[in-house]
Amino acid sequence: MATIYLNGEYLADDQPCISPLDRGFIFGDGIYEVIPVYNDHLFRLDEHLQRLDNSLANVSITTSLSHQDWRGLLEELISRNDGGDQSVYLQVTRGVAARDHAFPSDIKPTIFAMSNPLKPVAAEVHEHGVSAVSMEDIRWKYCHIKAIALLPNILLRQQALDAGAVEAILIRDGEVTEGAASNLFIVRDGVIITPPKGPLLLPGITRDLVLELAQQAGIPCREAGITADELKHADEVWLTSSTKEILPVTRLDDQAVGNGRPGPLWQRLIKLYQDYKRHYNGQET
Ligand SMILES: Cc1ncc(COP(=O)(O)O)c(C=O)c1O
Repeated sequence: MATIYLNGEYLADDQPCISPLDRGFIFGDGIYEVIPVYNDHLFRLDEHLQRLDNSLANVSITTSLSHQDWRGLLEELISRNDGGDQSVYLQVTRGVAARDHAFPSDIKPTIFAMSNPLKPVAAEVHEHGVSAVSMEDIRWKYCHIKAIALLPNILLRQQALDAGAVEAILIRDGEVTEGAASNLFIVRDGVIITPPKGPLLLPGITRDLVLELAQQAGIPCREAGITADELKHADEVWLTSSTKEILPVTRLDDQAVGNGRPGPLWQRLIKLYQDYKRHYNGQET
C-alpha cells in the first residue's frame, strides 16, 4: 500500500481523510506540481518549488512551508514509498469552508502529496515516435498557473486519444501554445523553436532544461511564436514534460512529420537530457 502525505501526516492511501467541502473538490480551487524522482533524487526541485510559489502567489494561497520544509516532506514521502524512480504529485488547495465563491477569511490550505512509480518511456516510443492531433485551445487565459482545474485539458487529451493519438497540440488564434499536458518544440532548418513564456502556456521545467541543454551544446534555438502552418511543415516536432521527458512526434493530424521518424536534433537532445539526468546530484547510474 502506498503512503500519502496530508496536512502534516503520512497515511496509508486508503484512509479517507479529505472533507467534501474542501474547495479543491468543490471549485477546483487549488494548484499542483509534478516532480520526477530518479534514483531517490528529486529532479530540478528548486525550479519546481519556484513555479509552485508562482502558482500559489497567482491564486493568493499562502502556506507556511519553506522550500526546505517541502524538500524534507517530499524526501520522507519518497523514502516511505521505497525510493527509486518515482513521480511526486503535490497539491495545495485553499482549504475547507462553507461553499461560497468569495475567499473565506481565516482558512488553512489543504496540503497533499503522493508518489507513484515512474514508468520509463517505452523504447518503441523513442524508436518510432508518437502521433498527435492539433485542436483549438479551449482553455482559459491563465495557463501559466498550474491549476488543478483541468477539465479542458482532460477533454482535449481524451479527444486526442479517441483519434488514436497520444496528445493534443493546442492552437489559439492561429498560433501553437502547447500540448494538453506538455510543452511543444519544433525544428525548422536546424533551429529549435518553442513558443515564448506568457499567460497562454505553462512554463514547463522540462522546456527550460531543453533550452538550457541546447544552448550549452551550441545548437541554435529560439523562443518565438509558431503558426499552425509552421507546425504543419516543421522538420521535427517534440513534446516535453517532466514524466515523458522529450517525445518525438512523428505523425501530426495523420501526416508524417519530416520523414516520419524521430529527427536528428531530437536524437541529440534526448542524449543530452539522459546524460544530464545521470549526472544530476552527482549520481552515475
Ligand atoms: C499544460 C502543460 N504544459 C506543459 C507541461 C510540462 O511541464 P513540465 O515540463 O514542468 O512537466 C505540463 C505538465 O504537466 C502541462 O500540464
